[in-house]
Amino acid sequence: MEKDPIVRLRRVTKRFDDVVAVDSLDLDIYQGEFLTLLGPSGCGKTTVLRLIAGFESPDKGDIVMNGTSLIGTAPNKRNVNTVFQSYALFPHMSIFDNIAFGLKMKRFEKSVITEKVTEALSIVKLGGLEMRKPHQLSGGQQQRVAMARAIVNKPQVLLLDEPLSALDYRLRQEMELELKRIHRKLGITFVFVTHDQEEAISMSDRIAVMNEGRIEQIGTPSQIYEEPQNMFVAKFVGEINVFEGRIVEIHNGSAVVDIHGRHFKVQNRKDFANGRAVKVLLRPEDIMVTKDEELQGTAPALAGKIEEVIYKGKTVDLIISLDAGETVFVTQFFNEDQEDVVYRHGHRIHINWPYGWEVVL
Ligand SMILES: Nc1ncnc2c1ncn2[C@@H]1O[C@H](COP(=O)(O)OP(=O)(O)OP(=O)(O)O)[C@@H](O)[C@H]1O
Ligand SMILES: [Mg+2]
Repeated sequence: MEKDPIVRLRRVTKRFDDVVAVDSLDLDIYQGEFLTLLGPSGCGKTTVLRLIAGFESPDKGDIVMNGTSLIGTAPNKRNVNTVFQSYALFPHMSIFDNIAFGLKMKRFEKSVITEKVTEALSIVKLGGLEMRKPHQLSGGQQQRVAMARAIVNKPQVLLLDEPLSALDYRLRQEMELELKRIHRKLGITFVFVTHDQEEAISMSDRIAVMNEGRIEQIGTPSQIYEEPQNMFVAKFVGEINVFEGRIVEIHNGSAVVDIHGRHFKVQNRKDFANGRAVKVLLRPEDIMVTKDEELQGTAPALAGKIEEVIYKGKTVDLIISLDAGETVFVTQFFNEDQEDVVYRHGHRIHINWPYGWEVVL
C-alpha cells in the first residue's frame, strides 16, 4: 500500500440536530484501492460519502485530497464522482445524453464529448444502446449507465452508494464482477458503500466496518472475517459462535481456556493474563463434529444434540444444543470418504475445534 493517502479524513464530525452521524472519524483512502464502508443502516456510511463529495460539510475536522484541504471546495470542483443508489437518470433523455450531460455543462467540444461517451459506454459494455431511453433498459443496464455517467469524466475517486441494492440476486452477482472489472480497468480509487457483508468481503481490497458514526475496524476482508477485533465486527461480518470461558494456564503465545469444565488450548495473541474471563469465538466452519468423543483421542470436546439439519448442497448446516446450554451453529463440508457420516435430528454428537482458528476476546 502506498504511503500517502489520496483522501484523508481527520477527526471528522458531522451532526444533524442531535444525531451525531459521523463521530470524530479518521480514515485514509489510498490511490487505486477498492475500499468498502460496511455497516448497519444509519451508521453514517452515506454521510461519509457526501462529506467526501462535498454535498455536506463537516462540523469539525478536515478532509484532505492530494495533500490539500477540500473544506470550502464546491462538489463540482472536486475530482470525485458519485454513483447513487437510485441511479438518478434523466428519464426523457437518451442514454447518450444522460452520459454526456456533465460534459455539455462543462462546454466540451462536440467531438470530444462523443469520444468520451463512446469510451465510457464501451467500458460498461453498453455500446449500441446510446439512443435508447432509460425505461427501455433493464435494471442492470440502467446501473451501467449510472456507472458510465460517473466515470466519463475520469474522476480520481469514484464514490458508490449501494449501487447494486436495486438489483435481484443473480444480476447483483453479475454486476459485482463487472464492478471489479471496471475498477481494475480504470485503476481509479473506489469507495463503495454496502450493508451486505458478503458483497463487501467478495469485492474489496479493504473494508471499514462502521458503527454509530465510527470505524470499529479497518482491514483486508480476511482480517475482518478471521481476526475481528471486537464483538461488533465479529457478529456483523458473519455467523459466529461465542463461548464464555476463563484462562487457566498461560504458555508462550498460547493459553488454556476452561469452557464448561473442559480445557481447550487457544492462541493468546492479546497476551491475556491467567484467570481472565474471555470469549472464545468460532465461525461455523471452524468447528468439527464427531459422533464419539473418543474418536478425538485426548482432544477435549463438548457434548450436545442435533436440533436441526439444513442441507445446502455443498455443505450441511447443523444447529446443535449443547448439554451445557449454548446453541451452536456448525457448517460441515461433505467429505467423499465419509459417506457413512449421516447427521439426523436428535443425534447425540460432540464438537471441538482442533485447528486453532478461534478468536479470543
Ligand atoms: N439530512 C439529514 N438530516 C437529519 N438527519 C440525517 C440526515 N442525513 C442523515 N441523517 C442521520 O444521520 C445518521 C446517519 O445517516 P446515513 O444516511 O449516513 O446512514 P447510512 O449508514 O448511509 O444508512 P443506510 O444504510 O440506511 O443508508 C442517521 O441517523 C440519519 O438519520
Ligand atoms: Mg446510506
